[in-house]
Amino acid sequence: MDFDARTQKYSNIINNTLNDAFILTNTPKLLHDAMKYSIDAGGKRIRPCLTLGVCDILGGNRKYAIRLGSGIEMIHTYSLIHDDLPCMDNDDMRRGKPSNHKVFGEAQALLAGDGLLTYAFEWMLEAGIGFNNLNYYRAVAEIAKRASVSGMVAGQSVDLISQAEGIKDEDELNYIHRHKTADMLIASVIAGALCANPTDIQLKTLEGYAEKIGILFQITDDILDAEGDETLVGKTLHKDEMDKKLTYVSLYGVERSKNMAQQIAQEAERLLFTTFGENCKYLYDVIYYILNRNK
Ligand code: IPE
Ligand code: IPE
Ligand code: MG
Ligand code: MG
Ligand code: MG
Repeated sequence: MDFDARTQKYSNIINNTLNDAFILTNTPKLLHDAMKYSIDAGGKRIRPCLTLGVCDILGGNRKYAIRLGSGIEMIHTYSLIHDDLPCMDNDDMRRGKPSNHKVFGEAQALLAGDGLLTYAFEWMLEAGIGFNNLNYYRAVAEIAKRASVSGMVAGQSVDLISQAEGIKDEDELNYIHRHKTADMLIASVIAGALCANPTDIQLKTLEGYAEKIGILFQITDDILDAEGDETLVGKTLHKDEMDKKLTYVSLYGVERSKNMAQQIAQEAERLLFTTFGENCKYLYDVIYYILNRNK
């Protein structure tokens, strides 16, 4: 199966699972509608695709990967809703549609984000009781850690601080990209691996690979903000420049950022090869999908 077909297949599985997950009976309609609005708005589903992809490569348990991947997508979607709020990036468009707070108001958007974050853990942990598998719980702990206060939330905090203080420093930039974006990609990959029984070496290589594609993902996000096609990207462009964000583009310019992206892609490929040889085609394809993406 080629990359597009496999990614489509994984996305369909995740979308069907998310549909099932949001059949909620005791949730106020407005809160439910607000959460579902952002989940259904689309999104590339790259994180859960990685979880399913790694699980399949290592011969893991698909049921675990589907639960974890759908939970990760809920956490990611919450992070986008909050990222767009007026008190953060103040973005009016997301996934090609008006941002959550534009439709539901700031307070309900905040709660929709809270709901997605907390429900994600309810969703993953309740299933874990039935699975009763230690590696599954290790995966949930990894997701919690990477989303948490030394992970994605930490990156988001420093992103805003550096913007407010006008910091233009390479270490600060690397910290931001490593945490606000790479951590959730690392969680996605490690969660997929823990659906099987990975060796320590496999886990270490996969973590290094995910860190590289995570940073690559944010570099291409920064480049797309500067010169993407708005109808494809589905977000208001040139926001980083307007907001004086610390990004690869603001620090190095577009051309150098593109060269650095290319370099990181090659590093990710080489790293993967050390442990997996050619037996993980999907993961090589993901690198070049991220490098060449236009949305
Ligand atoms: C956007 O993530 C936020 C970043 C981490 C750069 P995606 O580009 O994966 O957003 P969706 O899920 O496809 O909308
Ligand atoms: C946000 O980075 C990353 C997270 C939401 C955690 P950005 O602020 O660059 O993401 P976009 O460009 O709004 O998607
Ligand atoms: Mg942001
Ligand atoms: Mg943003
Ligand atoms: Mg961005």
